[in-house]
Amino acid sequence: MGLPTRRQFLSQTAATASLAALPIRALSQIQSATTLRAAAASESAASRGLLVGCCVPARALRNDPAYAALVKQQMNILVAENEFKFGPIHPQPTTFFFDDADTIIDFAEQNGMKMRGHNFVWHRALPPWFATYVTPQNAEQVLVNHIETVGGRYKGRIHSWDVVNEAIQVSDGLPNGMRNSPWQKVLPNYIDIAFRTARRVDPHALLTYNDYDIEAEDAASTAKRAAILDLVRGMQQRGVPIDAIGIQSHIHAGPKPDGSHTYGPALTQFMKDVQSLGLKLMLTEMDVNDRDIPADIPTRDAAVADLYSSYLRTTLANKNVLALLTWGITDKYTWLNHEGARKDGQPERSLPFDADLKPKPAFFAELNALKSAPRR
Ligand code: G3I
Repeated sequence: MGLPTRRQFLSQTAATASLAALPIRALSQIQSATTLRAAAASESAASRGLLVGCCVPARALRNDPAYAALVKQQMNILVAENEFKFGPIHPQPTTFFFDDADTIIDFAEQNGMKMRGHNFVWHRALPPWFATYVTPQNAEQVLVNHIETVGGRYKGRIHSWDVVNEAIQVSDGLPNGMRNSPWQKVLPNYIDIAFRTARRVDPHALLTYNDYDIEAEDAASTAKRAAILDLVRGMQQRGVPIDAIGIQSHIHAGPKPDGSHTYGPALTQFMKDVQSLGLKLMLTEMDVNDRDIPADIPTRDAAVADLYSSYLRTTLANKNVLALLTWGITDKYTWLNHEGARKDGQPERSLPFDADLKPKPAFFAELNALKSAPRR
């Protein structure tokens, strides 16, 4: 890793200010931290007490040793990109497939990392049999059986479960902004059933509601944040257990007039509102989409790194944020080249490491943001 550029030097200077209060040894441990893992939660008094991680595909952990080594070096919490989802883990009504999920959680535990569970209930990644087999009569039994079987298998080994993912879609026009999902159609009270069952099955896991497009200053994000706060208040009034909100943080570089690519006061307020409801926060799937930035790589990387810096300065300032996970760690493996890819066909550069596993400006931005984050 070469000398810091002028931009890295400036952001490092800002970071140094908040460290002045720390004892010399702790200070040197933070400043010398060169990995995200060390910066976030080194075993020292200087520890930020933060969890830093990423999503991983089992096949890359198995077949790409350099990738596995990078994940091990940089992360202290992992989440499966797809392997814990309903479809992949429950391919037939009475059949479960745990090999890929086991690969990931075993890797995490063997390397001293925590593990997130993603997810029990979602409108996507459902198995083909769901549409023909699940009815209003058996939907509750199917859901409870799924959570008991999957949650039971990993009981006590999961830091936090995304019990329900992306259940709000205000534009569907349903009451309370609910998404008109396959679950909503067959089991309207599925959210309460899922959270109650998850608490019973794995009492130690932080039960999380996870969603996207709740970060920006635009009207749609504002409506979605309000619907999520109402959902939580309703659950709490009904005595339904919930411990945390996952802010996915799939954000976009390159500001837009409607505020949809601007992240600031509204998000800060939402995080305070969540805190006032007694819930914790996690940034669960961060990446910075660069499709609106011209193809020139230094320009793209600078814009992406700038947004990592500003977004993490805003969000990690809230000590209620327990964890920061990126949706991947290297541009070699990112969903962004499959869903909503760049029009110019150039591969996305949305993550801390490039496709050759080399650190990018985004890596230094994330590293410095962790170093200057207030201790939890
Ligand atoms: O495993 C099958 C493979 O057998 C088959 O040959 C291939 C071709 O169709 O598909 C493979 O499944 C794909 C799977 O990723 C594994 O690669 C699915 O089609 C594809 O839809 C799935 O995409 C995942 C997507 O969620 C849907 O589950 C992405 O990798 C994953 O990054 C994305 O992640 C979501 C989060 O879970 C929730 N928030 C948004 C985020 C991005 O969409």
